[in-house]
Amino acid sequence: MTRKIIIDTDPAMGTKGGDPEDCFAIMLAMNSPELEILGITTVQGNVPVERGFSNAKYLIDSFQKDIPVHTGVPGTYDIERNEKRKWLSERKEMEQLTPMIEPAENDLSAPSFIAKTCVEHSGEIELITIGPLTNVAKAIDEDPDLSKHIKKITMMAGAAKVPGNVTPAAEFNVWADPESAAKVFSAGIDFTLVPLDVCHKTRFSRKQLESIGKNKHPFCQFVNESVDPWLKINPNHNIIDQGLHLYDSLAVALSFSPELAKFKKAYVTVETKGEYTDGETVCEFNESIMGQVFKPKPNAEVALDIDVEGFNKLFEERVLNYLINL
Ligand code: RIB
Ligand code: CA
Repeated sequence: MTRKIIIDTDPAMGTKGGDPEDCFAIMLAMNSPELEILGITTVQGNVPVERGFSNAKYLIDSFQKDIPVHTGVPGTYDIERNEKRKWLSERKEMEQLTPMIEPAENDLSAPSFIAKTCVEHSGEIELITIGPLTNVAKAIDEDPDLSKHIKKITMMAGAAKVPGNVTPAAEFNVWADPESAAKVFSAGIDFTLVPLDVCHKTRFSRKQLESIGKNKHPFCQFVNESVDPWLKINPNHNIIDQGLHLYDSLAVALSFSPELAKFKKAYVTVETKGEYTDGETVCEFNESIMGQVFKPKPNAEVALDIDVEGFNKLFEERVLNYLINL
């Protein structure tokens, strides 16, 4: 039986210098018979939301798929937070490789599409979120009963037992909009957290990009042009040689191949008032003293280890080889 999913994403392939990895994750989903993608919704994150929409549309059109794409609006869930994260909706200086595609005027917004689709397919939809949780939090506001209708969420978010990647405390997707994460974590929806702990075990290497670039198909040339600047963006030379992390592709893979990971139940919350720790995901595995005393009920399954080889094989078969042989 296929799983009906909606992917909420901040795709940057098409915008020079943005993290292009969401688009590999979407390609993996499109090439996975286990998944039926009912829609893609875009959120402010790696790139301003208008560019994310355009990049998602470009990808879907290139794959000639009939998948609706719905955009969120610029800004974070909480108005005050928006002031602090304003630059996320700006970044006008980034070079766009593709012509901008605009949403139709009467298109449903991303939160409305999520709410409507999850109610129409009550109990059947799994959300895969690979960007900040703004759209999902707003969808819950639109329909306070929405939690009952969503089967589960698999989310690339947070850091359980390792440091963050934007600050020592916080991972990007949660840091970008902590209040939306707080809303979603406490909504009573089953969720699986795919945190940096496991994402950092994955790599997309320069060698793999070169193998795509050898194919003169226009889409492969587009991938090459889009991913190359990102591989160079990080001043850490190890990263340049070893490549980028496949955070979001891992979340997609675990949504239908959970056997690739080891999970542990935890009560997951998020810091929204910290001076230095905003966006930190606090995962209580009931191993701390307070955890052992109060035993908070887990709200999530947290991936803490993965079968790296198994994931690499899946990614190679369904994304890399697909592109090489286009
Ligand atoms: O922290 C990793 C997340 O932020 C991923 O979703 C990736 O797209 C990013 O920039
Ligand atoms: Ca992402």
